[in-house]
Amino acid sequence: MNNDIRRILFTEEQIQERIASLGREIAEDYDGDALILMAMLKGGVVFISDLMRRIPMKLDIDFIQPSSYGNQTESTGIVDIRLFPEAELKGKRILVLDDILDTGRTLLKVTNLLRERGATDVRTCVLLDKKARRIVNMEADYVGFEVPDYFVVGYGLDFADKYRNLPYIGVLREECYGGGEEETS
Ligand code: IMP
Ligand code: MG
Repeated sequence: MNNDIRRILFTEEQIQERIASLGREIAEDYDGDALILMAMLKGGVVFISDLMRRIPMKLDIDFIQPSSYGNQTESTGIVDIRLFPEAELKGKRILVLDDILDTGRTLLKVTNLLRERGATDVRTCVLLDKKARRIVNMEADYVGFEVPDYFVVGYGLDFADKYRNLPYIGVLREECYGGGEEETS
């Protein structure tokens, strides 16, 4: 698995250090108010498990599973929700977590849905932000790192559902997915 990685962008230590500081910032901003951390499945699973332990306040966790159809490195832009939280969301403060903000379509759709369901405060936190690829008007409230337009895997991020368990974030070798480092399509 490690041989498929062309270059490491963020090591395990760098990721943990950044998450600790995000956790402190979030705890200060929410200042003890009730909070639901809501991770996007499956990519946000590793991120939520580390971040939740760095936010020293009472909170709930929940999950939402969007799916977008397309090939494995490029989505078509159609976002569907496969799994929606059953809990009552009226009046709740929700921080939505995802591994990466790319075109922005998924987070935009999910945050709109949560607001429609009555959540009063919906903010977003992503580990990675690929700003160059944005298509819709969506910016995250908390960002771990900005990344160039490479197809990256590890720490929750996958290619064809593999590589999520790498403890670091790296650029996948092009021969492993048929792309180039300069392009994700
Ligand atoms: P968006 O709706 O285009 O912002 O899509 C975001 C989703 O696309 C993320 O939750 C990831 O699952 C996936 N994605 C975008 N870029 C990458 C990447 O470089 N590696 C792996 N998955 C990615
Ligand atoms: Mg994903």
